[in-house]
Amino acid sequence: MDKLLIRGGRRLKGEIAISGAKNAALPILCASLLTPDTLVLENVPELRDIGTTLCLLERLGVKYRNGGGHRVELDASQVDSIEAPYDLVKTMRASILVLGPLLARFGEARVSLPGGCAIGQRPVDQHIKGLAAMGAEIRIEHGYVVARARRLKGTTMRTDMVTVTGTENLMMAAVLAEGRSVLENAAREPEVVDLAELLIKMGAHIEGHGTDRIIIDGVERLHGATHHIAPDRIEAGTFLCAVGAAGGDIVLRHTAAHAMGAILDKLREAGVEIEEGGDWIRARMRRRPRATSFRTLEYPGFPTDMQAQLMALDTLAEGTSVIVENIFENRYMHAPELSRMGAQIEVEGDTAVVTGVASLSGATVMATDLRASASLVIAGLAAQGETIVDRIYHLDRGYERMEEKLCALGADIQRLSGNAP
Ligand code: UD1
Repeated sequence: MDKLLIRGGRRLKGEIAISGAKNAALPILCASLLTPDTLVLENVPELRDIGTTLCLLERLGVKYRNGGGHRVELDASQVDSIEAPYDLVKTMRASILVLGPLLARFGEARVSLPGGCAIGQRPVDQHIKGLAAMGAEIRIEHGYVVARARRLKGTTMRTDMVTVTGTENLMMAAVLAEGRSVLENAAREPEVVDLAELLIKMGAHIEGHGTDRIIIDGVERLHGATHHIAPDRIEAGTFLCAVGAAGGDIVLRHTAAHAMGAILDKLREAGVEIEEGGDWIRARMRRRPRATSFRTLEYPGFPTDMQAQLMALDTLAEGTSVIVENIFENRYMHAPELSRMGAQIEVEGDTAVVTGVASLSGATVMATDLRASASLVIAGLAAQGETIVDRIYHLDRGYERMEEKLCALGADIQRLSGNAP
C-alpha cells in the first residue's frame, strides 16, 4: 500500500491548477444513463472514484472513451444490465447515484445497499422514500434495492434532512417522470447546481436549483450534451488550509471563489490573507494561525468535507477552537492521529475542542477516510521532522496527484510505493 513521506517545515510558494469537482463529476457521469445520445464531459478529474464509477457504468453496458486531457465521452445507447453489484457499491457509496437514472429511463433498477462507512451510518432511506413517492415499487431483497416503475410520476417530495446525493438521485429520476416534481428541503450545494445545469443542457426542465425548492417538469426524452465540470471547492480549500498551516504564498487557478464563501471566511479569520478573482485565489500566510471555531452545515454553511483540514490548521493556532460536526456522527477519526503528532484535541460526541500548540512533530499516521487523510498531510507539511501518512489510497480516491501539486508548491513530499519499508 502506498504511503506519503513528508519532511515538514517548508513554506509553500507557487501556483497550481485545481481539478474538476469529484462530487460534481460522480452524479454527472451517472446522468449519462439518462440518454441514448453521447455525453461529452470536460474537466473530469483523474481519481480512483471516477475510475470506479466508469467501471460501474461499463458493467451496465455504457461505452466510454477517455479522450485524455480530462475529457470523457459516454454512450449509454446499449445498456444491457440494470444492476449495480455489491462489490462496486461497497467501495464507493456514490454508486447509489445510478438508482434514479436507471429507474427513470429503463423502469427498473437493482442497486446494492451501500451499508455503513467509516464516518457514520449514512442510510439511503430518503432516496428510496422519494422514488416510492414518485410511484416506484421498491423492495429490499438480499441487500439490494429493487425498484420498478413503468413511468415515474412527478410529485412533491420533502426529504427529512438535507441530502446531497439524495437530491441528485431524485432530480435525475424526476427529469424523465410524467408531470411536475417539486423537491423541497433540497440540497443547495454547487455540485447539485452543476448537475442541474448539465441536465438542462440535455433538455430537462429544471428551475430553482441552488435553492431549497427545485421544480422539475418531466420530459419524455433527453439528448446528448457537452459539459465542463465545475472546479473542486474542497480540493481548493484543502490547499488553502495547507498554506495556512505551513505558511507561504500560493495562487490557485481554475477555482470558483464564489462557491467557497464559508471556507474563505474561516481562513481569513485564521489570519490567511486572501485575494480572489473570477477563477483564481491567492493566499498568503505570514503569521501563526488564529484559532477558529466553526460548525459544519449544509451549503452555504461550512462543509463537513473541510472539517478535518481546518482542524489541522487549528491544532497549530494561537488559542482554543470549538468545532461541532453536525452532518456525520463519527467524523473525528483524524483527531487521535493528529494527537500522535502533538496536537491537543478533546472530542466529546459531536464536539471537538482544540487547544493550539506552537508546533507539531512528525510521526507515522494513518487515516480511514479521504478528508481525514488530507488533514494528516496538512499537519505533516507544518510539522517538524518526518511524517509518514499511511493508507493513502483514501487520498487517491478524491485528490488528483496531490503530492505532485504540493511538490510544485515547494513541499518536500514523496510517494513511497507499496513495497517500500
Ligand atoms: C455527499 C458528499 C460527501 C459530503 C456529504 C455532505 C458526494 C458523492 N458525497 O454525501 O462528500 O460529505 O454530501 O455534504 O457528493 N442521510 C440519511 N438518509 C438518506 C440520506 C442521507 O439519513 O437517505 C443523512 C446522512 O447519514 C448524513 C446526512 O443525511 O448524516 C447528510 O448526508 P448526505 O448529504 O446524503 O451525504 P452524501 O450525499 O452521502
